[in-house]
Amino acid sequence: MSALIGLQCHLCKSTFPAEATYVCEKCLGPLEPIYDYASISLTREQIAARPKNIWRYRELLPITGEPQTGFHSGFTPLVRCTRLAEHLGLSELYIKDDSVNHPTLSYKDRVVSVAATRAKELGFKVLACASTGNLANSVASHAARLGMDCCVFIPNNLEAGKRLGSAIFGPTILAIAGNYDDVNRLCTQVADRYGWGFVNINLRSYYAEGAKTMGFEIVEQLGWQYPQHLISPVAGGTLLPRIARGLRELKQIGLVQGELPKIHAAQAAGCAPVVNAILAGEDYPEPVKPDTIAKSIAIGNPADGYQVVQTVKATGGTGAAVSDAQIVDAIKLLARTEGIFTEPAGGTTLAATIDLVKRGVIKPGESAVVCVTGNGYKTAEVVEGKLGEPVQLTRAFKDFESWWEGRQSAQFVNS
Ligand SMILES: Cc1ncc(COP(=O)(O)O)c(C=O)c1O
Ligand SMILES: [Zn+2]
Repeated sequence: MSALIGLQCHLCKSTFPAEATYVCEKCLGPLEPIYDYASISLTREQIAARPKNIWRYRELLPITGEPQTGFHSGFTPLVRCTRLAEHLGLSELYIKDDSVNHPTLSYKDRVVSVAATRAKELGFKVLACASTGNLANSVASHAARLGMDCCVFIPNNLEAGKRLGSAIFGPTILAIAGNYDDVNRLCTQVADRYGWGFVNINLRSYYAEGAKTMGFEIVEQLGWQYPQHLISPVAGGTLLPRIARGLRELKQIGLVQGELPKIHAAQAAGCAPVVNAILAGEDYPEPVKPDTIAKSIAIGNPADGYQVVQTVKATGGTGAAVSDAQIVDAIKLLARTEGIFTEPAGGTTLAATIDLVKRGVIKPGESAVVCVTGNGYKTAEVVEGKLGEPVQLTRAFKDFESWWEGRQSAQFVNS
């Protein structure tokens, strides 16, 4: 049912069969799946009648057989945020809430569902990845339910929730003394030597396509319309360009009309190679050494940085880099206005949105979708000690009464 016909070099446009190759043998450019769009006849009604998961768009996903996993991944809520909108001075604001993605609470469940299915199709026995945490969680979970061997590589300084969130599924975890860029370099060598299925290295062309589903869903959930602005976090640069690709494909097969949103890139100031390039008018991000609490998006040398810059430029978007303090404030603001607890990647994206509103890039009457891609329960330490303490009482009613009667103000509610 997929319209997949092969892989094509993003740069020189040479075409290749749909195998586990990810760089062009002619120019070393990245390879991406191509589809026979003319063969796709898909209506909004047909999509609406399908199960609410990423595979409702399977014609536009790069598998050749039946999906193997991800039957509950995707179709996360698009939350209309009135209280947050009011706080920002906007009239139409949405959170695309992948903090509740199934099964591991981040946007990575989309890309891994596709990569793991393709890995099975291509005959890989070991599923692996280089990860800043969320990807390892998702790879370990999907490998467990597929009964595949699993080996995840992570930097050795990740949050406890991210480490446990992989360990529970029983993979081999390799904690590397170094940052993500060091981990990724090592994994490229392992992939070459041992032929494991690294979802974000030798399976990257397929993996990245899973991210398009976030764009598909946003349009469907808005009633088959584009928003005017879309704000996406950027780490390795998979998500942002694939959202745009997905949005273009929907137009190409006649499911939506109108102008693509302006797509803006959000990064932490402590690791902002892509936003730096966008703001300096450069095409190629200059690698940086990450130093931020937003560890899930701390990638100093993004694989798809060039593609992010091109996409942002093509849609008329821009970038914003925000401090760790702004990230924590945004995490708290989202929780207190909308009841959504995100991790620093989501805090980064919301803080960047606030910056874009202040700069006048997003105007009060314009619609905006903020992509919240990860869950705050995995990174509790970033807000630990910043939320006030519970009132401590004995179990005696008298004790409660004297505290209640004697309290000076109701500040404890919002401290
Ligand atoms: C929560 C979260 N959001 C966003 C990203 C950004 O990913 P990328 O730009 O690599 O698609 C990541 C990547 O690891 C992540 O864990
Ligand atoms: Zn090429």
